[in-house]
Amino acid sequence: MNLLVTGGAGFIGSNYVRLVLKKHPQARISIVDALTYAGNLSTIRDVLASDRVKFFPGHIQDPCVIEGIIKSEQISHIVNFAAESHNDRSLLDSGSFIQTDVYGVHILLEATRKFKLERMLHVSTDEVYGSILEGAFTEQSPIEPNTPYSASKAGGDLQCRAHSISYQTPVVVTRGGNNYGPFQYPEKLIPFFATRLIDGKKVPVYGDGNQVREWVHVMDHCSGIDTVLHAGKVGEVYNIGDSNERRNNEIVKILLEETGRDESLVKSIPDPRKGAHDRRYSMTTEKTQALGWKPEHDFEKYLRDTVKWYKERQDWWRPITEIPAFQDFIKRFYGPTLGSDL
Ligand code: NAD
Ligand code: DAU
Repeated sequence: MNLLVTGGAGFIGSNYVRLVLKKHPQARISIVDALTYAGNLSTIRDVLASDRVKFFPGHIQDPCVIEGIIKSEQISHIVNFAAESHNDRSLLDSGSFIQTDVYGVHILLEATRKFKLERMLHVSTDEVYGSILEGAFTEQSPIEPNTPYSASKAGGDLQCRAHSISYQTPVVVTRGGNNYGPFQYPEKLIPFFATRLIDGKKVPVYGDGNQVREWVHVMDHCSGIDTVLHAGKVGEVYNIGDSNERRNNEIVKILLEETGRDESLVKSIPDPRKGAHDRRYSMTTEKTQALGWKPEHDFEKYLRDTVKWYKERQDWWRPITEIPAFQDFIKRFYGPTLGSDL
């Protein structure tokens, strides 16, 4: 298998490359990544040491880049992680979300069709279903996204459906729950709070903090993606989650314990997502489990391990949080509510 991993310098993509290197000794991997604010070569320093991995800087929406790699590396499979991935940023400015999460997926689908690749897997998200107060979404549930980010993901996801129906493009889609684990960019709830608590800074809980997310360890998500890539049926969608529902407040409690901090560092702020803040995510995953996959990471143990990782790998995240672009975003998004606690 000659695999093209897009967005491989980001959180989930980099962990997926690690999984493939271990699980498929014959696989050769090309990574294409635009190295946006969320992509860092420091995230993939270890995998770049392998002579089975090549890195190509570039945007997925650039057909010259994608077609050039497919030809030179004789690519047989694509797994697409490349995306603008943060809801809060999409509320500030959503243009780049449309470019990458919709148009970029279109370019990858067209290349898959033109070069008759064996398979493309598109990594989508549970957020395309919107919020559910009771019960759980199945792969047949309606697509009702509520933020510019989730709407852009839904756009890419539905392009995959249309391509498989219109052109029989061999594409499969996965919809994952909230991931946690090493190398997550420190703007998302768990790494943002862990890194701030390590530094003794206040953490901003949106609204009442009782929003529920379904958490899945990044390596369980990656093994699910790999299972669907090889065993999923073309044109089908597969949910990947761990039925592990937690309120944000429960997560914060564990983060405080693991960093040795107390409630005085928790600041409840008016919800900056306003109406767009999905209350609860929940999915059924029987369809994916029927392919032979199951999640294996105990949430509380691995959440604590993740915090330990952030304590130990300050060499990885400090250069990221110290650059002006990161601090500018924090000021712009949290300035009005965190004020002097920034
Ligand atoms: P991330 O933001 O950490 O990484 C995204 C990567 O894509 C970065 O390396 C970035 O440089 C790269 N990228 C962005 N735009 C690009 C472009 N136009 N061309 C090439 N590369 C580009 O994101 P993540 O959390 O690793 O998420 C990966 C994928 O998984 C996304 O598609 C996301 O929607 C999906 N997903 C994420 C989660 C989660 O909890 N993080 C859950 C379900 C699904
Ligand atoms: O569900 C899958 C999605 O999970 C992925 O598609 C997205 O790429 C990923 O970012 C994630 O989206 P969320 O918006 O759920 O994740 P985030 O970590 O941004 O927020 C999780 C919850 O924590 C949410 O209810 C908002 C809340 N939150 C977040 C931040 C950053 C806070 O209360 N304070 C914060 O500062």
